[in-house]
Amino acid sequence: MRDVVRIIRNGRIVELKEIRPGLTMLDYLRHVERQTGTKESCNAGNCGACTILVGRKGKDGIVYQPVNACTFLVAQADGAEIVTVEDLADDDGTLHPVQEALVEHHATRCGYCTAGMAMSLAGLYHRSDGEATEADVRRAIQGNACRCTGYRSIVSAGIAATRRRTEIRLDRMREDTMAKLEAIADDDEVFFGDTEDFVAIPRTMERAAAICTDYPAATVLAGGTALDAEERRRADPRRVVLLSRVAEATRIAHGEGAVTIGAAVPLQTAREALQSIDVDLAALVDRIGGCQHRSVASLGGDLMLGGRKSELAAALMALEADAVFRIGEESRRVRLDALYAADGSVDHELGELMVEVHIPRLSGNAVYRCLKVSKRWDLAPPIVAGGFCFDLDPEGTIANARIAFTGLAAAPGRANAAEAALTGARPLDRAVWPNAFSALRQDFEAVGDSLGSARFRTETAQALLGKALIEAGGTSERRTRLRGFREEEGALAAR
Ligand SMILES: Cc1cc2nc3c(=O)[nH]c(=O)nc-3n(C[C@H](O)[C@H](O)[C@H](O)COP(=O)(O)OP(=O)(O)OC[C@H]3O[C@@H](n4cnc5c(N)ncnc54)[C@H](O)[C@@H]3O)c2cc1C
Ligand code: FES
Ligand code: FES
Repeated sequence: MRDVVRIIRNGRIVELKEIRPGLTMLDYLRHVERQTGTKESCNAGNCGACTILVGRKGKDGIVYQPVNACTFLVAQADGAEIVTVEDLADDDGTLHPVQEALVEHHATRCGYCTAGMAMSLAGLYHRSDGEATEADVRRAIQGNACRCTGYRSIVSAGIAATRRRTEIRLDRMREDTMAKLEAIADDDEVFFGDTEDFVAIPRTMERAAAICTDYPAATVLAGGTALDAEERRRADPRRVVLLSRVAEATRIAHGEGAVTIGAAVPLQTAREALQSIDVDLAALVDRIGGCQHRSVASLGGDLMLGGRKSELAAALMALEADAVFRIGEESRRVRLDALYAADGSVDHELGELMVEVHIPRLSGNAVYRCLKVSKRWDLAPPIVAGGFCFDLDPEGTIANARIAFTGLAAAPGRANAAEAALTGARPLDRAVWPNAFSALRQDFEAVGDSLGSARFRTETAQALLGKALIEAGGTSERRTRLRGFREEEGALAAR
């Protein structure tokens, strides 16, 4: 067992022991290191001003992932290199190609977003081998909000930067950094602090469950992105159990009939496995935060949020996915459509951990869609999101319908009455649609809030169901969608 967190900063191994369990990397950088280039703005993972790069050993060298420092605990960085905007330029002042391009393209005005933009673009620069497309750049800065320059010049700078290959500081340090990453890599459990204030990073589910049995009220985190500044201020977590290294919760298994994804697998990593089930799932994942968010936020964390926040809950309920939980020595398997209480909370015991999620593959005659309506395309929570799966018999009739929504009522859930109304009908048989639409009112007690009234949510859910039926009936989605076309989404790889 190790009682220090080890990170690499600027070519040095830094050992951190006396830190608050809830200390974020943003506060560490700004208040402990006094490196204030990393900006604080929303402090909730919404704007990207605080973007840093987290470097870890990959198959072919160091892989740099952009991460929001405001929602990333120092303890989560254990074993990684942390790169900030201060680390991009050379000591003699020579700028990183990304910084140079931002200057040349006049891609900054007030500058508040610029450090974060530079880091997201630097992440793309180091991940790509040259010539990023406009789509690549837009995707890389999806999690960065700029309120005064406008994105056109930033995108041009991003494209220009990736075409400009010069040896830079990070490249020259690479070999040494790699050696240091190897030197600090181990399989040790990390536990530092005392019984009142601690961070535990167990490596097995058995240990995680044992710690949670001893401390059932400990804050269990996978990516920690849901722990926003407000929550931290109200209750600074004093006992933190991080699941991001637990072997059973971080693996993916591709079975013939189902895909099993560890609950702590980051959304970015889960994307490929989800895409192997249906491309709409990958497209949905791409709209959950920006790259900075998805590189740490986990599938299990999203499902555990429940309420109106988890669109993946609805998307996976329509596939009849289930989750395995563990408390102490006991395990249970529960279908997602039985996981949520009426108020939207997850029906689980204190100290009970989600281990993995089983997602059945689609049968040959099934048509699946998941659709989301939000205020903006990117970086916006769902107002209503739906998962739809129709098993069609050889005549094209719906033999079995599975429909679920998030955002319509307080809890995500299945639309049993609407499913029954559609069974036996053809998807394009509009005569049965009114029955299915009014059945939705039976299935969900719609609740309104600042994002949308109860009526708006109900009508949006009905429209999404209609759209899914039109697509299931074989109508080209060029007629139903403005963007997010399935063949284009299918071609996109996770970056
Ligand atoms: C900027 C931003 C945008 C977002 N946009 C969307 C969106 O568009 N759609 C959407 O659906 N969601 C959205 N979310 C929610 C987001 O997906 C979740 O924040 C994220 O998936 C949570 O994962 P995490 O690993 O960070 O969870 P954590 O923050 O680590 O945990 C979240 C909660 O789940 C519990 N928990 C986590 N893992 C486990 C486990 N294995 N067992 C038991 N309990 C566990 C934690 O105790 C905590 O209560 C957004 C969040 C942010 C910050
Ligand atoms: S400060 Fe806005 S994402 Fe971190
Ligand atoms: S330059 Fe002002 S917010 Fe982007």
